[in-house]
Amino acid sequence: MTLLWFYGLLLGVCCYISTSETTSRSVEKFHYDYSRIQETEQAWKCWQEGYRPPPATSNKIHESGNGTAAEIERILSFNQSNTVLFLFSSNSNNLNLITAFTIERNRLVRLLLDNAGLERLELAFNGGENDCRLAELSVPRNRLRNLSASMDRLTTLRKLDLSYNLLEEFHLDRLMNTAGSLKQLLLSHNRLESFRSTVSINFTSLHKLDLSNNRLRTLDSTYWAMPQLETFHIDYNRHLVSIEGWKRTRFPLVKGFDPAGTNNWNQTWLKSVQ
Ligand SMILES: *[C@@H]1O[C@H](CO)[C@@H](O)[C@H](O)[C@H]1NC(C)=O
Ligand SMILES: *[C@@H]1O[C@H](CO)[C@@H](O)[C@H](O)[C@H]1NC(C)=O
Ligand SMILES: *[C@@H]1O[C@H](CO)[C@@H](O)[C@H](O)[C@H]1NC(C)=O
Ligand SMILES: *[C@@H]1O[C@H](CO)[C@@H](O)[C@H](O)[C@H]1NC(C)=O
Ligand SMILES: *[C@@H]1O[C@H](CO)[C@@H](O)[C@H](O)[C@H]1NC(C)=O
Repeated sequence: MTLLWFYGLLLGVCCYISTSETTSRSVEKFHYDYSRIQETEQAWKCWQEGYRPPPATSNKIHESGNGTAAEIERILSFNQSNTVLFLFSSNSNNLNLITAFTIERNRLVRLLLDNAGLERLELAFNGGENDCRLAELSVPRNRLRNLSASMDRLTTLRKLDLSYNLLEEFHLDRLMNTAGSLKQLLLSHNRLESFRSTVSINFTSLHKLDLSNNRLRTLDSTYWAMPQLETFHIDYNRHLVSIEGWKRTRFPLVKGFDPAGTNNWNQTWLKSVQ
């Protein structure tokens, strides 16, 4: 009995040592570089074209360095109430960095979280409330698997960049309230098997749509109304043979597709739409 107790103690000690060793070894540092503009004057509500933070009431902070996961978390939990711009990027391998971010309503105008280890992105809005400030939401090179349902509350969004994430599907219907303002929708380098729309929405300002480097096998453009679409990237969807509903007359500014490209184009279809 005593012997068993002794071995138990020994085991406990050795485990304790090895755990603390692992802990000290795992205090990994991650590179960060961010700019943040604080604006104390917050009486204005909605973002408008041409907005610049007034020098008298704003203040720019820029910092870079290497920090632990806890330090990165602290950087990302800045006070959104007095911030209009936050641009974060990192050049390290951030596989071991796991973060989440919640966007507050009618605060930020531009948000960039590039390679920030993001696995969750949420919007802290009550049902029915819209955001009329956020003009750019860029979260490339993270590990997002899905989008918050409140995404359709961002009514002034001009740029939505979700490239280099882990999205498997995207519902264009979700952007219904953004359709008037959205200029760029960037979804390349995800795992998209589906990019769907079930109602016709007029994306009057959209000029760039990037769906390249995904896993699309079928794509139906029948419901897309994108009269200003000029840059359309769809290469590196290796099993894609055609795009349903595509007609030159519907997308007059798009230059056409590369016949020798990286998709598996049905050449008969391709000739009919070039
Ligand atoms: C962060 O660490 C990298 C390598 O670990 C080093 O090259 C770089 O100079 C560091 N950056 C800063 C701002 O300390
Ligand atoms: C965030 O900023 C607002 C506006 O300046 C201030 O009222 C509030 O106390 C700050 N919150 C925290 C947690 O510092
Ligand atoms: C998004 O994915 C995460 C993890 O896979 C899951 O926990 C969460 O419920 C999903 N959220 C939505 C809105 O589907
Ligand atoms: C979309 O809106 C534009 C500009 O308002 C208009 O010219 C165009 O006819 C609309 N297209 C469709 C399909 O409704
Ligand atoms: C290729 O496209 C043409 C024209 O759209 C169509 O008639 C034909 O069935 C397609 N071929 C295959 C193998 O899907």
